[in-house]
Formats: sequence, C-alpha cells, structure tokens
Amino acid sequence: MSSIMIKNAEIITMNANEEIITGDIYIVDDRIVEIGHSLSHSANKIIDAAGRTVIPGFVQTHIHLCQTLFRGQADDLELMDWLKQRIWPLEASHDEESIYYSAMLGIGELLQSGTTTVVDMETVHHTEYAFQALAESGIRALAGKVMMDKGNEVPIRLRENTKSSLQESVDLLEKWHGYESGRIQYAFCPRFVVSCTEELLTNVRDLSAKYNVRVHTHASENANEILLVEKEHGMRNVVYLDHLGLANERLILAHCVWLDEEEKKIIKERGVKVSHCPGSNLKLASGVADLPGLLDQHAHVSLGADGAPCNNNLDMFNEMRLAAIIQKPIHGPTAMNARTVFRMATIGGAKAVGMEKEIGSIEPGKKADLAILNLNDFHVYPSYDIDPISRIVYSATRADVESTIVNGKVLMENRQLKTIDKKI
Ligand code: GUN
Ligand code: FE
Repeated sequence: MSSIMIKNAEIITMNANEEIITGDIYIVDDRIVEIGHSLSHSANKIIDAAGRTVIPGFVQTHIHLCQTLFRGQADDLELMDWLKQRIWPLEASHDEESIYYSAMLGIGELLQSGTTTVVDMETVHHTEYAFQALAESGIRALAGKVMMDKGNEVPIRLRENTKSSLQESVDLLEKWHGYESGRIQYAFCPRFVVSCTEELLTNVRDLSAKYNVRVHTHASENANEILLVEKEHGMRNVVYLDHLGLANERLILAHCVWLDEEEKKIIKERGVKVSHCPGSNLKLASGVADLPGLLDQHAHVSLGADGAPCNNNLDMFNEMRLAAIIQKPIHGPTAMNARTVFRMATIGGAKAVGMEKEIGSIEPGKKADLAILNLNDFHVYPSYDIDPISRIVYSATRADVESTIVNGKVLMENRQLKTIDKKI
C-alpha cells in the first residue's frame, strides 16, 4: 500500500457544485480516499501544499504523440498541403525507436503541463512502441494506430490493406486494452473520411461496439477536406459518418470547425464527443469552431492540443487560453468564460472518454489524477476576489505546475515543493 497526504491546499474540486475548498487530500494507492480539514492519517509521502492550488489533471482528447518530433513542420501551410508535403512523408519515415522517443518526449511535456490523460492517435506502423512508452511513463491514455486504406496522395508505405489495418488494430487492442487496471485503453483511429474506405469504417463501427471502445477521428476541420468528402460521398463528414452508423456516444471527433446545422444536430442527438483544438485550428488556418453554438445546444465538448507541429508543446494552458480568447471578438467577452473552458479541460474530457465516474474531478472514490500549481509566483497585485480558475486560464503557464500525479503516483515533481517521504 502506498499513500500520499497533500496538506493545506486550495482545491479546485470540479465536483457537481464546482466547489473550491481549502484542506487536505488523502490518497491511498491509486484513489482519493478523503478530502477534509486537518486530516491526520499517516502517509508515505506528505506534501506541504500551503499556498498551492490543486486541480484535476487535464484530459486532452486529441493528440498525435507520433508527431512530437515533427515540431516546426506546420509553418505556413494548410491542412491538406501540410499532410501531403510534411506529415505523411515524416510519419512514413518513423521507425520503432523514433516512435518510442516521440511518444516519450510528448508524454514528458504533457506531464510537465498538468495533463494526466491523453487520447492519442499514432501513425500506421510501430504503434506497439508508443504503447510501451505510455505503459512505462505512468500517464493515463486511450491510444491506437492510425488507419488509412485509401488515398492516392498517401505515401505508399502508409497506405494499408483494409484487412491488415483492422487485424493489426485488433492485435494491439487485445494486447494493450485494459493494461494496469484500465490505465491504458485502446481506441480505433480511422484517420479521417478522406483516407478510409467504407469497408474499413463499417468494420471499425462493429469492432468498437464489440469491444466497447472509443473511435477517434478527425472531421470537418478544413474547407478543402470537406470538399473532398462531399465530392466523393455527396454528403458532409458527420452526415456520412452517421449514415455508416458511426455517430454514437463512443465517437470522438477532432476539430469540427465547419459544422452545418444538420451535423450539429447529429452530434447532439447521438451523443458524439467533440474535441476542440483551437491552437491547431488557428495555425493550420482551418478556422474558428463555433464552440458557443455547440455549448448552447449542450453538445459534449473537450479540448486537445493536436500534434506538436500545430501548437509546439502540447500545453493545455495554451489551449484553454486560446479557446477562451478566440471567441471574444466574435461573440463578446463572456461567450467562453474561464469556467466553461476549465470544465472542458477537466470533467468535459473525462466525459469524452467515458470516465467521468473515475477522473475529471477531485472527489473521494475517484482516481488520484491531479496537478499541484503554484499561482503565487505571479507578479500581480494580490486580489483575493479573483476566481482562481480565471487566473489559471488567463495567466498560468506550465512553469507553474509543481507536481503531476496519475493513479496515485507522483510522475513529476519540482524541487520548490516541500515534501517528506517516509516508511510507514
Ligand atoms: N486530418 C487528418 N490527419 C490529420 C493530422 O495528422 N492532423 C490534423 N490536424 N488533421 C488531420
Ligand atoms: Fe489531429
């Protein structure tokens, strides 16, 4: 048994009442056991969190860890040119080692910036080595190999045979899904409609139902991508996915920048999860997604940084800030307020991965996935009436993260934090 006592913290719980309290958090093994004042259990590790803020770990619902090493490769291009000229040739050049290190580098950046769960889309080959990195690192993840069995523009090395794409995915699922009591799960990753045959997509639909796992794909990101889908299928992305029976509560759709009313209705009615990637949507000149519109109709929305080429460092603080500020000139100052964005980054992400009973908030019984922030280093006039969530969204950086804990294990700790380790 291992235990951690976090003392005297400001705790942003994100429980049903979104309470912010001051007190202690007692963790035994992988779970939060008790939250309260002056708790007196003995623990293997005591963390003095006076003056610190504890938040639920961020849940990022769209990332390509295989692209971490390609940072600096999205500059001044839009989606289809970027994929053809840069990303697909680079993904085709990956080997077992580079996939592993690309994942490890990305995971390091995620943990440093307070992300405790990642939904990861890998490339066609060597996904086994990304799973090894995820397993060794201790982060929580839903991951899968990308599937692409179509497209003249796709390098020949990445173009798959439908049957082997499905078989390789199932082999990975059977090996890794449920690893370490479910810390790692499989998610099928058909890349986007443009690169997948109907046979592949309908098989993915059936396999996702059979194994009860997520399907993670891109949709309606860019005007040219939408044109390609309309030209071939005579339908818009989400309508086509619905037509094939894929639009359901297990589907995570990255981007959704250009949804029409019919697509929004399908997303809402079928319980599809949207992963909003504001940094990537800006850098690839894709557009500004109508998040206020999706939120108005109570669609499920969460946040992701996409790959490092689109945002540089997989940092949820950047994504939260962008998600809030890009809407303000269009919809006014309160359209995407700090709480809405913070909710998307935490409990919203937990809902996207179907784990809202396990992660996304700080409550007894939940998994101990959290980050400890030091917001007092800000060179600001002390103003206690400011909501700490607003300070996090608009001012915090990853340098303010002092510790990241996943499944009750401290995976990142900075020397400024006072801790006592002892045998009990
Ligand atoms: N659409 C298809 N593949 C990709 C990708 O790798 N990144 C982004 N942003 N969009 C995509
Ligand atoms: Fe992406």
